[in-house]
Amino acid sequence: MGSKRKNGNTSFLVQRAVETAKEEGIETEVIFLGEYSIADCNGCEGCKDNYKCVVNDDMQKIYPRLLEADAIILGSPTYFYNVSADVKAFIDRCYCFEMFAADDRSVWMGIHEALGGKYAVVIAVCEQYSEEDMGYTAEGMTKPLEALGYRVIDTVKALGLFKEGEVLKDEKILDQTAKAGKRLAKTLKLRKEVERKMNSVILSKT
Ligand SMILES: Cc1cc2nc3c(=O)[nH]c(=O)nc-3n(C[C@H](O)[C@H](O)[C@H](O)COP(=O)(O)O)c2cc1C
Repeated sequence: MGSKRKNGNTSFLVQRAVETAKEEGIETEVIFLGEYSIADCNGCEGCKDNYKCVVNDDMQKIYPRLLEADAIILGSPTYFYNVSADVKAFIDRCYCFEMFAADDRSVWMGIHEALGGKYAVVIAVCEQYSEEDMGYTAEGMTKPLEALGYRVIDTVKALGLFKEGEVLKDEKILDQTAKAGKRLAKTLKLRKEVERKMNSVILSKT
């Protein structure tokens, strides 16, 4: 959750999606990025050989949780047509999870793709009423997540929200967000089912 306002609109929407996934039996955890000290990526390339970031700050507490999780729900308020600084720092620090061929940097993939693919829901919030005024907030999360190997299965764009927590009066967007959380949970369950079936097909051939 990428707004410093813990009782703000992004927070309630992320928590709504997470709660819905939890109700579907998915193990969940909410990480409030504002509670962590996450420095900007300094571009040192210290991660290039072992996919580990050398910067020793609170992001080190988040990396293992990202590796363990099958999915992510990433939410950001719109700040000047884009994601918040906390979300941008978080995304940039995931650069250590991008892999490039040693002899050709046009050949690359995200670690989560290499590990079999993961899933994501993106939640973007803004004050104005047109998508144009939301700018690049949703895409600013979707494109990096895709590059890291997540398939974004749903995007919630919540418009017209300014005051802290006023989203709690917006039943329509709360429902849309709950549906996104449910779809994410169902996607994870389908994935497990397919894995189970594929394993039994492979076993029956041996
Ligand atoms: C620095 C800053 C920049 C903002 N830029 C925009 C903007 O470009 N477009 C917009 O519609 N709202 C903008 N807003 C309004 C917030 O996106 C809006 O209040 C949102 O509900 C905040 O989310 P939160 O409650 O999760 O913190 C901006 C707010 C701040 C503080």
